[in-house]
This record gives sequence, structure tokens and C-alpha cells, in this order.
Amino acid sequence: MLAQTIPLSLYIHIPWCVKKCPYCDFNSHENLGALPENAYVEALLFDLEGQKALIGQRTIQTIFIGGGTPSLFRPESLETLLKGVRSRVSVADDAEITLEANPGTAEASKFNRYREIGVTRLSIGIQSFDSDILQKIGRIHDGREAIAAAEMAKTAGFSEFNLDLMFGLPGQTETLALNDIETAIGLHPTHLSFYQLTLEPNTVFHKYPPVLPHEEDTWAIQELGQSRLRQAGFQQYEVSAYAQAGSRCRHNLNYWQFGDYLGIGAGAHGKITLSDTGDILRTQRLKQPASYMQAALEETSLGSASQVHRDEMAFEFLMNGLRLREGFEIRHFKPRTGWEMAQLEPTLSGLVKEDLLERTPTHIRCTDHGFNFLDSILQHFLPPSC
Ligand SMILES: C[S@@+](CC[C@H](N)C(=O)[O-])C[C@H]1O[C@@H](n2cnc3c(N)ncnc32)[C@H](O)[C@@H]1O
Ligand code: SF4
Repeated sequence: MLAQTIPLSLYIHIPWCVKKCPYCDFNSHENLGALPENAYVEALLFDLEGQKALIGQRTIQTIFIGGGTPSLFRPESLETLLKGVRSRVSVADDAEITLEANPGTAEASKFNRYREIGVTRLSIGIQSFDSDILQKIGRIHDGREAIAAAEMAKTAGFSEFNLDLMFGLPGQTETLALNDIETAIGLHPTHLSFYQLTLEPNTVFHKYPPVLPHEEDTWAIQELGQSRLRQAGFQQYEVSAYAQAGSRCRHNLNYWQFGDYLGIGAGAHGKITLSDTGDILRTQRLKQPASYMQAALEETSLGSASQVHRDEMAFEFLMNGLRLREGFEIRHFKPRTGWEMAQLEPTLSGLVKEDLLERTPTHIRCTDHGFNFLDSILQHFLPPSC
């Protein structure tokens, strides 16, 4: 396996939010006071320094600063961070650099500065434009601020920006959901993420479930939303991701194509193919921001790493690759898993016969029908140990 041929990304986690949303199971912590921005940026750079031996001379193609709410950080802090990254590892001149932003913390001047320091793409967590629904899901912004945030991204000169929308929300009717889509389309983002609300364990909504639309209504919202987005020129390229031509998120694509990524920051995950053995290492950083920063200060270990068992590599590859509408490239399978395609037989041919998967000369992908049954397709490829 030639690790050098596998694209490399960098994920940077900023773990704070103004308020914890009741549906959110991301590693995000409420913080109303001053953020320890300098100490955290130092910890991030110490973390990168410690992990850079894993990537040798490889060049980072994309950076994603996610959260939490990274837009809570001052542009100056993120500038120090990005400069620190570039001085420690090689970053491609045309790297895609995405920053997640919340409408509640959006300020036009900040967006301008983010672009000046090298951020190339904003991803804004809109969720809905309906103020009543936003309140029901515990957001700190209203519909007006959501629209303003998207407009500010344009005014600041971001030619690439994503809006996150959720559907199947409490109190959401078909009409309200379609209004959200229509408003989003009218703001001309180049990318839209359209997620169905899930009630995740260890969240407030899991403990005290809100009344949600009926399953059939949520299904109808998804179908109608998809077709309206298609009409407006957005191609669905992954389960929840839609993009105008040429605007797919390169960072997320690299995850789904089973590329490599370093993960720095509290709770961040990474996946790196080792150049000497071809084994895959999964890394995880300490979850609590305070413990993470303390460990950096004391220059001790910031997390743990474990090797992916060879038997599991193909399953992990398929779990990512089949989320893509175009499926995975057959030529990527062997270099990224160490498996021969023949080892997927006879399961693969069986699923093709059942009209759940299809092959093209270059790709293997779900059929239109199979795309609705992704989880059950993947069950067929589970490694024997699971
Ligand atoms: C990492 S979150 C953070 C983005 C940003 N902090 C925000 O909330 O605006 C990325 C996106 O995941 C989606 N998301 C988070 N929790 C979800 C859930 N339980 N179900 C569906 N989508 C969810 C939301 O659309 C959110 O914008
Ligand atoms: S703002 Fe985003 S990351 Fe923060 S709690 Fe809400 S959904 Fe989670």
C-alpha cells in the first residue's frame, strides 16, 4: 500500500458553543465566558507537532475547522493557527480550507477577516429559517439572523459556502420544510447539507423526545426536498450532501473515499495509513478541552491510537464509499484496504443480482433502489468478528 498516493486532510476541532443544542452529540461544551483561545491554539499546534511524524513528507490537501462553533474564535487566533500549521507541515497552495460558523455568532467583519486569513469556504449551521422551529430545537439564532449570515458570507466574497439544513424537526410541516429549501436556494449557496434530525443517545432530545412529524411526512419532505434541490441544479452526491457542479466539499469527499486525515483538537479523530506497513492507524484525542489543554501544557500524551484490524478495512472502506451516489472507484479499493476486489465475492455479485448494487467500468455504487437500503447492504460485508 502506498500511503503517499492516498490524499491527506487535516481536521481541527474547536469544542465550544454559546449554548448546547438539545439534539447535539458532538464534542461541544457550553461556554459563555472568555475562551482560552491562545492556550488552545498552542495546544493544537503542539498536537500537530506530535503527530506530524505519522505523515512524513505528505502534503495536506484540505483543512476543516469544525466544532463546536469555530466562528467564536477571533480571526487573529485562527490566523496564528493556520500560520502555525503551514510552518509545521506542507499544505497545498490550492488547499480547501473550511470553517464552520453559526448564524448566532456571525459578524460581517469576522467573515471578511476569515477570508483574508485564507479560509476558502464557510459552512453555516442554519438548520431552519423558521424562528418558531429554531426556538423548539434550542437554537440561539432566529430566521432573520440565518438569512443575514448567508448574505454576509456572500458580501465577504466567499464564492464557496455551505448551508446546513435539518428536516423532520418538531412542528415542521411539508410546507415549512419546503419554505426552508426555497429560502436556502434563494441565497445561492454552492453546497447544501440536508440532514434528517436523529435523536442521539446522551442528548436532551433523547431523554425528553419532542413530538416529531410522522415518519411518512418526514419521508415526503425528504423526497420533495431532493427533487426541488435537483431542479435548482444541486446534485446529491452523498446521503445528505448536495452541490452545484464543481462545488463538492473536497474535505468530506476525502473521508468518504477512505482517504487519510490527521485530527487535532479535543476529541478529534484521525485516520492515517502507515507508509512502512500499509496498516491503518485510528487516533483519538482527549475529549475534555481542559484535560486536552493541560496535557499539552505538561507535554504529555494528548490521546490514544489503535490499529484497524486487516479484516475490518474493507468494511470501513465500503461503509464510507457506498454513501457516495457515484459509489467508490474500483482502483482505490486495493491501495486503501490491502484487499483484492475478488475477496468481496460472492457477496458483491449477489447484491448486484438483487438490484441493490451496480458496477460501471470504474465504480461500484448503490442502485437508486439500493441507496434506500444502505445499512442492510453493509450488513452483508461485516467482518466475521462482528
Ligand atoms: C458539527 S455540527 C456543527 C455546526 C454548527 N455548530 C451549528 O450547529 O450550526 C454540523 C451539523 O450537523 C447537523 N446535526 C447536528 N446534530 C444533528 C442531529 N442530531 N441530527 C441531524 N443533524 C444534526 C447540523 O445540521 C449541524 O449544522
Ligand atoms: S451549535 Fe452546533 S456544535 Fe454547538 S451544540 Fe449546537 S449543534 Fe452542537
